[in-house]
Amino acid sequence: MLHLVLESRLQAAVASLFPGLSLDSIRVRPASDSKFGDYQSNALMALARERKMNPRQLATDVVAKMEVADLCEPVEIAGPGFLNFRLRPGALESVLRTALLGEHLFFAPTSVEKRRTVVIDYSSPNVAKPMHVGHIRSTILGESLTRVLRLLGHQVVTDNHIGDWGTQFGMLLFGWKTMLDAAALEADPIGELERIYKAVNAACKEQPETLEKARAELVKLQAGDAENLGIWKEMIRLSQVQFDTIYGRLGVKFDHTLGESFYNPWLPDVVSQLTGSGIARESEGAVAVFSDGTLPPKEDPFLISRDGEWVANPALIRKSDGAFNYATTDLATLDYRIRTWAPSEIIYVTDGRQQLHFRQVFNAFHRWQSKAAASVRLTHAWFGSILGEDGKPFKTRSGDTVKLADLLDEAEERALRVVVDKRPDLDSATQREIARKIGLGAVKYQDLLPNRQSDYVFSWDKMLALTGNTAVYVQYQCTRAGKVIRDAGITPGTWSSGPALCLEAPVELALARHLLNFGLSLEAVADECRPNLLCNYLYELASAYSRFYDSCPVLKAEEPSRTTRLALCELTARVLRQGLDCLGIEAPETM
Ligand code: ARG
Repeated sequence: MLHLVLESRLQAAVASLFPGLSLDSIRVRPASDSKFGDYQSNALMALARERKMNPRQLATDVVAKMEVADLCEPVEIAGPGFLNFRLRPGALESVLRTALLGEHLFFAPTSVEKRRTVVIDYSSPNVAKPMHVGHIRSTILGESLTRVLRLLGHQVVTDNHIGDWGTQFGMLLFGWKTMLDAAALEADPIGELERIYKAVNAACKEQPETLEKARAELVKLQAGDAENLGIWKEMIRLSQVQFDTIYGRLGVKFDHTLGESFYNPWLPDVVSQLTGSGIARESEGAVAVFSDGTLPPKEDPFLISRDGEWVANPALIRKSDGAFNYATTDLATLDYRIRTWAPSEIIYVTDGRQQLHFRQVFNAFHRWQSKAAASVRLTHAWFGSILGEDGKPFKTRSGDTVKLADLLDEAEERALRVVVDKRPDLDSATQREIARKIGLGAVKYQDLLPNRQSDYVFSWDKMLALTGNTAVYVQYQCTRAGKVIRDAGITPGTWSSGPALCLEAPVELALARHLLNFGLSLEAVADECRPNLLCNYLYELASAYSRFYDSCPVLKAEEPSRTTRLALCELTARVLRQGLDCLGIEAPETM
């Protein structure tokens, strides 16, 4: 927050020396090391370089024009022209005061002109298959990005691009008609669909006639046969029930669920437009997009290096049997989203193995619709894998993929054991409710904490540890801060007039400074699609709170310390709660 005020004052000073200069690059950022102050700017060095000026002289001139005495100590010019800003306690106190009154929570809502429409494509599981641990990262990352962007005031459209079309339906339909166990379908629909799919798939490998029959079912479905369409719709409905149960548990909601099949009517047109404009061409009976040779080979998604030579690596958009591909659907989807929502950005959250796919789709789209493409930023926010403690892909003991529902159950059960042990005084409904928040929070936080592009090792012990960078720790500090407020007899959010605050102890000042950076961390998450930055921020805030609370008595302190400390407790609780909410994690009232 205050960095924005400093930034605009710095910009005003620069503008007074260089009228008409574009000020976009004149930024104030948090200090890389608190030794140097709270915020810093290196913008003047670049400016001096551009204008061939002496950077220290330029910095001296700008600082002389900068009016910031109300906010910080005299600005320090370091090295070749860095500016260091150290906030005055009075400035911190007044920001805390306005936050207490509910005027802000340390971030500025995006101004109307800067408000963006962002489409986020996440979760996107496949019909007739159980949602497994691989879908968790997409769901949780996408949900967190959605929440952060919305909190900052952007317009977010969420779209669950479920996999509801493809050759697997030939086998599923054949299985449905020949080997469905009605009772099993009733008891565990997805389990039964999975069973028939596996059985037919195995049979197809042995008996060519089964493969033929499955293909025939697929052709009938594609041709709009009423019976097959009915069964297909029922499979989607059953799957959606399963998805919705999981989304309900995770607190995830989508604005739209436009599965792959939604785009079927447009696919022939996509192919003919791409062929018509020379972007795609026939190759061995199929149609594919090839390189247009405009990019250096290293950056060209349609080339691949083989034995030291660059060879074609085309993207299929129509198979020789006439069926369309994943890429064709994604091109139609992109076109639809731009026409329907006019977004300035579309974010796809999938695992890293789809990098080439999206590079090809984005590149082909740019060539196909250069004007539409110029108005939208296309981001593939990809993520790494979840590994077991043996370093191999995370599996159950028997070697199967881990079903998401089972994983969430286990998380809640394990958390319940801890809660029952630590809080035998609570009734069992309360214990369960706390365990639910802790268990789900632990799974989500563990997933969001690593840099999304790294693989991470799934560990129950680590994620449920009461100390260290875990959800439980952050939740616990949030609860502690809230309890102080209740013990003081204050109803949170009812500070009617701005109280007199006086920050003195270094731990108080450190906590206040950290609160102020909440907005910066939200913006960083939004810019880079990296919720891990928010996890780290919250962990540091929780730690700063703990240090403060361990060394500063609150209720027994004299005024004005007592009020100041109560204010710090309440604001910490608010920021931790809001921050956890951005990660999709609930904070229990008591723990
Ligand atoms: N259903 C796909 C999968 O499970 C993910 C879809 C991602 N979104 C997209 N527009 N391709 O791998």
